Amino acid sequence: MEDLTAFLTRLPKVELHVHLESTMPGELLERFAARQGKRLPRPADRLYDCSAEDLSDFLAFLDRICAYVGTPQELAEAAEYAALAAGEENILYSEMILNPTHWPQFTVPEIIAAVTEGFDRGRAAGGADCRFTLSLSRTQTGEEALALERTMEMHRTPRLAGLSVDGNEALSGRTGERFRPAFLAAKAAGFGCTVHAGESSGPEGVRDAVDLLKADRLDHGVRAAEDPNLVERLARERVPLNICLTSNLTLLYRRPEDHPLRRLLAAGAAVTLNRDDPTFLGGLTLTEELRRAAEFASMTRQELIRCQENAVDAAFCGAETKAALREALAEFQRG
Ligand code: ADE
Ligand code: ZN
Repeated sequence: MEDLTAFLTRLPKVELHVHLESTMPGELLERFAARQGKRLPRPADRLYDCSAEDLSDFLAFLDRICAYVGTPQELAEAAEYAALAAGEENILYSEMILNPTHWPQFTVPEIIAAVTEGFDRGRAAGGADCRFTLSLSRTQTGEEALALERTMEMHRTPRLAGLSVDGNEALSGRTGERFRPAFLAAKAAGFGCTVHAGESSGPEGVRDAVDLLKADRLDHGVRAAEDPNLVERLARERVPLNICLTSNLTLLYRRPEDHPLRRLLAAGAAVTLNRDDPTFLGGLTLTEELRRAAEFASMTRQELIRCQENAVDAAFCGAETKAALREALAEFQRG
């Protein structure tokens, strides 16, 4: 049988959970920094050898990284780079998350225009078909959330797919009620809604995401496994879980054997597999993330394909794009 890495390299891949902030290699940032007369704190090839101990440390590190991007043109270049890099490993479709609080140097309309332009250029040059969600930080106010949603409506582009929320729930506490009006407005305006939950929050964060924010999917969601009834509900309602094994084994689970990937698959949850923060995770590729998941949870090739199909089902794109992605997967299976 074909070796697993060769199989995964050839597999047409779809990802729904990767932060644009974590796709910029040190060399790109070094070039941008030089234009501002700045230097990176470490040589470019070791920029990400940081010692982020936990999620809060890591999020502060992301703020410092994003400051090296000085102009909307550079942000467009970073987005183009991300689309091309994804295309190189046969990711056909990628939905990236961008959190404007990491980018105080830009207005939200500037961000939307720059990322759209970068994704368009990347796609035209053979990269992945990329979309993005704009993400709230857990610590923002309800008014800020509504303002972001309104700006999204006013500056809609075909690549702006939805609203999300990320950051550290362990610090902010429950935010479901606070963000509910913005998420309901986004949904009414036709945007997809995705929520980081069940990473720095437990089952209650997952329930809030589904019940209060009406999330179409969950980013992570793994800590739902602490409540078997909730897992059974998520599987029954086919709520997609955008799981990031490598990220979770770095930032969340001290003991790998505690990660519930196998249990969630066995329960019939709609699992997708994702990179989350690739530069921070040693330049993680989706191919490698899938290989690790296969090894870690003894996943069959059929299960790995099923995760790609789940991602297509859960993607915030139109029926035509979904049909083309499904056809690529069907053709792959026909050999
Ligand atoms: N932003 C970037 N990566 C994140 C993560 N793993 N959890 C929450 N917010 C994030
Ligand atoms: Zn994430």
